[in-house]
Amino acid sequence: MSSPLLVVAGIFVKEGRLLLAQRPAGGSYPGLWEFPGGKVHAGETPEKALVREWREELDATPVGPLPDGFAREAEVILLFFRVRALLGEPRPAGCAAVRWCSAAEARLLAMPPADAPVVERLAVGEGGAFRDTSDAETPGLVSEARERLPFIEGSAGLGPGQVVKFRKQGIGGRAYVEGVLVATASGPRAFENLCPHVPIPLDRIHDDIVRPDARHLVCQNHGALFELPSGRCISGPCEGEDLREIPIVPAGSGWAVADP
Ligand code: FES
Repeated sequence: MSSPLLVVAGIFVKEGRLLLAQRPAGGSYPGLWEFPGGKVHAGETPEKALVREWREELDATPVGPLPDGFAREAEVILLFFRVRALLGEPRPAGCAAVRWCSAAEARLLAMPPADAPVVERLAVGEGGAFRDTSDAETPGLVSEARERLPFIEGSAGLGPGQVVKFRKQGIGGRAYVEGVLVATASGPRAFENLCPHVPIPLDRIHDDIVRPDARHLVCQNHGALFELPSGRCISGPCEGEDLREIPIVPAGSGWAVADP
């Protein structure tokens, strides 16, 4: 007898609205609304599969998934997870559409047979409403996930003169690195937020580290000017030295640090 196919699905409710994905045309249950997820690959844990599937399907990352029941449908075992937070704004990257539904709306949608009973189970709040899936641990899980994941939050739509600060674990084998992402004439660049002169953050005294011309960064400690996009100091105590660049790659609608 062949072993059943393992499939994962995530349940995320925010402000009383449940996140659902529409199945694409052509496969099984085309056009039906479901809890986003998919097959567990060989050698993958269900939690890792859920993260991969949500990134592929929704271009967003589920945080802190906890097992939350299962369903069996012929040769498929569906493992449900309660998702406690989401990084990124979900969009239909690999599904036909996404929607946020109240319990009343969700009950009217056509769903695969395993999903509809879960909607009923979740509608337990006042008047049969959905309860949010976050909990007291959510804020800590979110900041830890932000540091662990390569994606730089807030990097989508980065404009001239804007700076996105980030902190990531594991770059260059170090416990963590703090960086700044800036727009330059040659596209976004990321640098370590450390002056080469003495290793203190460029913005230790003041946040305003991009010059109004958007062509230079300035160290707010002793005024060193760094040309963009090179990151070379053109005036100041560290003249001729470079800010340490952090390689980045496009990721969805934004940017991520390249894999260490
Ligand atoms: S610490 Fe940056 S110029 Fe002095």
